[in-house]
Amino acid sequence: MAAATTLSKRPNNRPAPADNEKHRVTVPDFLTVPDFLAAKARGVRLTMLTAYDYTMARLLDAAGIDGVLVGDSLGMVVQGHENSLSVTLEEAIYHARCVARGVRRSLLVADMPFMTYQISPQQALENAGRLIKEGGAHAVKIEGGVRSAASIAAIAGADIPVMGHIGMTPQSVRRFGGFRVQRDADKIVEDALATEKSGAFAVVVECIPTDLAQKITSALKIPTIGIGAGAACDGQILVAHDLLGLFEDFQPRFVKQYADLGHDVVQAVEKYCREVRDGSFPAAEHGFR
Ligand code: KIV
Repeated sequence: MAAATTLSKRPNNRPAPADNEKHRVTVPDFLTVPDFLAAKARGVRLTMLTAYDYTMARLLDAAGIDGVLVGDSLGMVVQGHENSLSVTLEEAIYHARCVARGVRRSLLVADMPFMTYQISPQQALENAGRLIKEGGAHAVKIEGGVRSAASIAAIAGADIPVMGHIGMTPQSVRRFGGFRVQRDADKIVEDALATEKSGAFAVVVECIPTDLAQKITSALKIPTIGIGAGAACDGQILVAHDLLGLFEDFQPRFVKQYADLGHDVVQAVEKYCREVRDGSFPAAEHGFR
């Protein structure tokens, strides 16, 4: 994000990364919810990626990402499940806490796992509060538009920033019969409007036709963060493991792979194994006198 107004220090006084110094005029020390809203008003596109641990959070943050999502996609890319349904609130809190230690500048959003907000707005509020208090998240994300409106309102009403998520909502995978592009335009527009009206500060729009995402983006004041929804959205999000070539079990068409780290890891480990076996590692400089 190229422009923002606030340049104050984080309340916990953690230092901003040194690199920020040279961009001081245009890059904020850290991104806030108002910065996300301002970005849309200014036509500045927002960047988001997922992270589930400290090291990845540090790297994404150092690269200048605007928002980091502790996605419940951790069920797939960290835990090896076929979907996100089994992720628990405790696990989401644990991963949020790890990421929170690595984030300096980015807005930290934590996903509310399946069945942590569907029962009642009160359940949603209590669990959102835990992600903020125990997980260190700055905001939570919740799937569903119209059906989640009361929960979004309850959470936002307690001044906990909420990001919505509409279109192909991964927690609905059983009802959808798979991770499929969603095309019911009337329903998706209704969900978008309900999400904004309930008090969300942004909304992820996943796997919907590009022209529909464009229509929703023009209709809303809050930023749309697209994934498989075309370039008209106010920002983009991807699973970092997909972008980096670290996760090969499932490769959706909307992913652009910017690196092939999975290949690099295999090559590096093969070399390590060879060198241990032939005695060239450890060398003298890796030992102590
Ligand atoms: O869980 C997740 O990673 C998400 C995305 C929007 C990528 O919800």
